[in-house]
Amino acid sequence: MTTTAWPYPLWIAHRGAGKLAPENTLAAFRLGAAHGYRAFECDVKLSADGVPFVLHDAELDRTSSGKGRAADLAWSALSQLDAGGWHSRAHAGEPLPTLAGIAAYVRANGFHLNIEIKPTPGDEHATGRVVAAAAAQLWAGAAVPPLLSSFRPESLLGARETAPDLPRALLLDTLWPGCIEMATSLGCVAVVTNHRVMDEALRAQLQGLGLRALCYTVNETADVARLRALAVDGLITDAVDRFSPAA
Ligand code: G3P
Ligand code: MG
Repeated sequence: MTTTAWPYPLWIAHRGAGKLAPENTLAAFRLGAAHGYRAFECDVKLSADGVPFVLHDAELDRTSSGKGRAADLAWSALSQLDAGGWHSRAHAGEPLPTLAGIAAYVRANGFHLNIEIKPTPGDEHATGRVVAAAAAQLWAGAAVPPLLSSFRPESLLGARETAPDLPRALLLDTLWPGCIEMATSLGCVAVVTNHRVMDEALRAQLQGLGLRALCYTVNETADVARLRALAVDGLITDAVDRFSPAA
């Protein structure tokens, strides 16, 4: 099987800029960009009224001034929260971003985006459907579409239903039985693995199937060297101040 051209940069800034700014906010994207990053990963889920917005956890507590399940609040309430003050005083008042807001920033700057579909548990299929449909609209006419990834096959199935042309990737923390077959049956173009499970054999297996190989979250120099020797297609990192995408 042939592998199609890969339009995304090797280096991808995790949650905007890792830990140097509040994760999954525009401030993080701006910091990642200031370090030379041109591709970003972020986690997208749905508000109670179906607005795709950017947050990692199902709960608000760790990374915002809110409490409890984010999916229980409408966007009008989520938009009032402080998603930066938990990180540092300099970032106090930073709002939670919508996917639309991130799209505006990414497209205006010619950057690339990996949208991780991160459903609130129980909302896997609907989140895939809504996020992918929104992404198709927000990136209409773009030269390079966003890459949609998820740990949840149901979310990728939903994405395929509403935006079949957007590229998909299965995220794998472990190599669970049947995972590669699942990726191919979902029409994925890539798998994104925990960097610890990527090796020569897996790389070769993926290559043989025409699948690209990306890894998260790669923060140590020795791991970068090992993965670059395997010629992986993407490295998702928190360490935007340590690894230069130009190198
Ligand atoms: O998308 C790669 C990586 O972000 C997956 O793990 O928990 O940081 O979303 P997590
Ligand atoms: Mg993620």
